[in-house]
Amino acid sequence: MSVQAEVRRLTAPDIRARKGGEPIVSLTSYHAHTARLVDQHCDVILVGDSLGMVMHGLETTVPVTLDMMILQGLAVMRGSRRALVVVDLPFGSYEASKEQAFASAARVLKETGCGAIKLEGGKRMADIIAFLVERGIPVMGHVGLTPQAINVLGSFRAQGRSEDEWDVIEADAMAVAHAGAFSVVLEAISEPLARRITANVAIPTIGIGASPACDGQILVLEDMLGLSPRVPKFVKRFAQLGPSIGEAIAAYASEVKARTFPGPEHTYGMKK
Ligand code: KIV
Repeated sequence: MSVQAEVRRLTAPDIRARKGGEPIVSLTSYHAHTARLVDQHCDVILVGDSLGMVMHGLETTVPVTLDMMILQGLAVMRGSRRALVVVDLPFGSYEASKEQAFASAARVLKETGCGAIKLEGGKRMADIIAFLVERGIPVMGHVGLTPQAINVLGSFRAQGRSEDEWDVIEADAMAVAHAGAFSVVLEAISEPLARRITANVAIPTIGIGASPACDGQILVLEDMLGLSPRVPKFVKRFAQLGPSIGEAIAAYASEVKARTFPGPEHTYGMKK
């Protein structure tokens, strides 16, 4: 018998049940080591397609592939035990048809072991979300700013800047909820709109640049740690790891150059 206490992993229904309750804490992760740290404090770990920009230095998420998502999803599953792991479906892997979306989402679930997928889009994705949920795939929606649509939007600006656009964004969130999604990300929208949507949809809203009025929050881990060179205006940096890492690398480089780099007696704990 195992002496280790069993840790039950949170499920999509557990997150769904948190509507209006204790705030849902979420961060992104793409690696086993960071997933281990995030898992200690977060309910949801998102393997976001932001990995294209954060890990690969791409300008947008558009070039990210399903294979890239599956590889990092697997790493995050290995590193985490408690949080619900949600993996993004990347651009081009689900929009063409219900069948394409099912094939991509099923690959993600089978090959990573994660508990849910996320896809972008409101009303236009409602049929696809319903199709997936009816066939056993938990879906997290994503409305407001949808970065995969960058080539249509033209920039990563906040959405719903004029009140005339609010009804459309709210209808998107409603459509996602009615289609059976267990939660919905609201990205880059104003506080009054986020508050209105959160009050009106039956599923938890998870905000990113959408104010504290949501049922939970998510940030890109590298952004909040101060590792990303450029971050959206709304991001609070909870640490400044970029400069600390730079200092550590500089200290290493100068020890190597001065030949003061520790020898094996230090490394293996041997006496001189
Ligand atoms: O890809 C991502 O990291 C995301 C979050 C920003 C919500 O979709």
